[in-house]
Amino acid sequence: MKLGSLTLKNNLILAPLMNITTPIYRRFCRHFSEIGLVSVPMLYTKRLMKNPKSVEQDLFKIEEERPISIQLIGNDINALKSAITYLESYKFDVLDINAGCPSKRAIKANEGGALLKDLENLKNLLSVAVKYCSKPVSLKTRLGFTHSDMNFLNELAKVINTSGISFATIHARLIKYRMNDSKLDLKGLKNLKQIAEIPIVGNGDVIDPYTAKKMSGYTKVDAIMIGRGSIGYPLIFSHVQDYLSNEIEISHQNNIQLMKEHTKIYERYIDEFLKDISLNYSHEEFKFVELKRNAIWLTKNIKDSTYIRRDLSNAKNLKQLKNVLQNINEK
Ligand SMILES: Cc1cc2nc3c(=O)[nH]c(=O)nc-3n(C[C@H](O)[C@H](O)[C@H](O)COP(=O)(O)O)c2cc1C
Repeated sequence: MKLGSLTLKNNLILAPLMNITTPIYRRFCRHFSEIGLVSVPMLYTKRLMKNPKSVEQDLFKIEEERPISIQLIGNDINALKSAITYLESYKFDVLDINAGCPSKRAIKANEGGALLKDLENLKNLLSVAVKYCSKPVSLKTRLGFTHSDMNFLNELAKVINTSGISFATIHARLIKYRMNDSKLDLKGLKNLKQIAEIPIVGNGDVIDPYTAKKMSGYTKVDAIMIGRGSIGYPLIFSHVQDYLSNEIEISHQNNIQLMKEHTKIYERYIDEFLKDISLNYSHEEFKFVELKRNAIWLTKNIKDSTYIRRDLSNAKNLKQLKNVLQNINEK
């Protein structure tokens, strides 16, 4: 599958989710499903300029995770240039510019989602990124700040079409909305897709193969980015891929079977996972806590699963964690 100049194994992308899509999480998801591209959550350009070492941990061994995208947030051209220069020493595949973060901090600092209030500035930032970065550049944004109509979408499409970026990811909501307090605007996404001359990645509320099909069938986006839908459901990418390309329905009948399918896979590879990667976490303990967190997420939406979660969180080491996973599968 081609996304601009990138060739990916499929058109599914793991979204950047701050504090969630960590290196362990990204590798965890890729053990379950083929994922075209994974994303490192946002790095602040100003912080990077002041103290490049501050992001070493975030970027440790990312070359093992290719294809991978790194995201920058900021509105200062000089900070952006110096962040890009610093990043050139890393091996990655896409540089993504964040113009969609709705947090109060980002809006106050005039960055992230606030960039949609000043499309001229957004275009400048994107053009600088394209000029100075040797990798393809993408944009991640939403459909508007406080409102979205065809006029605004035409203006946004102009920026997308003329700044030299390779593709744009659109979360089909406005910046003013938080995550769950508004419906997804698939009509807006479809309209933007129609006037965009580069590939568009659709994003928002994809939680299973059916919501993925609804988005891609209606809007005709070129690829789909999945964030929260992957938490506790890392097989989602496989299931979406099977459904979109071959109409293969998910084989499990209910959440318990899905959890068992997940935990069986997790149990099988957990040793290998720990042996193979020497992630740069300061404490082995922290690595284990993340593995446990991922296991606990697999019990999401399971009726009466408090006892399983309790056993998982009581596990003190890998052996105990594996035992709990094994017990789940034997029941
Ligand atoms: C906890 C959390 C952290 C996020 N961190 C980032 C981020 O670092 N960069 C970014 O562009 N979007 C971030 N997002 C937005 C997601 O990438 C995505 O656009 C949004 O969650 C909608 O997609 P979903 O419904 O598939 O989760 C974050 C969202 C959440 C919930």
